[in-house]
Amino acid sequence: MTATRATALFDQLAPVYDEVLPFFAGFARQHMAWLAPAPGTRVLDLGAGRGALTAAALARGCRVTAVDCAPGMVERLAAQYPQVHEARVMDVHQLDFPDGSFDLVCAGFVVHLLDDPAAAAREIRRVLAPGGVFSFSVPGDVEDAPEWEFYGALFREFQPLIPEGQGRLSRPLDAERLLTAAGFVGVSGTAMEQRLPVPDADTFWDWGLSHGSRAYFDALPADARTEFEARVRAELSTVTPPPPEGGGFSLCLVGVATDQPGP
Ligand SMILES: C[S@@+](CC[C@H](N)C(=O)[O-])C[C@H]1O[C@@H](n2cnc3c(N)ncnc32)[C@H](O)[C@@H]1O
Repeated sequence: MTATRATALFDQLAPVYDEVLPFFAGFARQHMAWLAPAPGTRVLDLGAGRGALTAAALARGCRVTAVDCAPGMVERLAAQYPQVHEARVMDVHQLDFPDGSFDLVCAGFVVHLLDDPAAAAREIRRVLAPGGVFSFSVPGDVEDAPEWEFYGALFREFQPLIPEGQGRLSRPLDAERLLTAAGFVGVSGTAMEQRLPVPDADTFWDWGLSHGSRAYFDALPADARTEFEARVRAELSTVTPPPPEGGGFSLCLVGVATDQPGP
């Protein structure tokens, strides 16, 4: 398995993942509404986490298989969604399914975390039936939310303190190129956005510790982490009361690709 860091991180996060603010669930509902799969569609949810996309696909009557490298995620997903066809621990880079098993492969906020996205995209194409669709989401830029710009600036400021090879798992990704290089056609995309109410600084800080950015905070030296947290709280205290109106988060959904029948 290549996903050693991801497995350790997300196994640790599984009990709290998407529990503080329903960030991933909200995007998954939008993502699935955009795809609008028909009932009975054979869906593979890759890096399914706690099941944000799985839940949205089940709600549309799809037959959903969910995989994730973190056993703690898979265990919780299977318990929460017993109607799922199959939930398995699996690395996206090596999918243990026969060729052409699925009509739709989806991945919410996963592809930018992978060690080898190109290899994963080839695997995904293999398990898709001819004409099947691969759709994935990645984080996008936050727009029109000046009140939250300080947060990104803090990440940039403290980044030099993170030891090489630690910190956030995300990597830059040319999503369209990834799809075309793997042989997908008909690539298209859309941008999605949601604004979540953030009731107070405690909730915001706990949210930051409940998803992938936890790896960044855990990699900071202790005094720097304390300072980072203090500065987040100081910034938020300037807007409370009243409480922050809401976090502005946008998502660039980059690609639905249609696979053509092989030669
Ligand atoms: C940011 S979370 C997204 C979870 C879910 N898709 C959602 O939208 O809430 C990324 C998930 O991808 C999983 N993951 C990361 N690398 C993986 C890999 N190589 N194989 C399988 N799962 C992986 C992690 O364990 C984690 O659950």
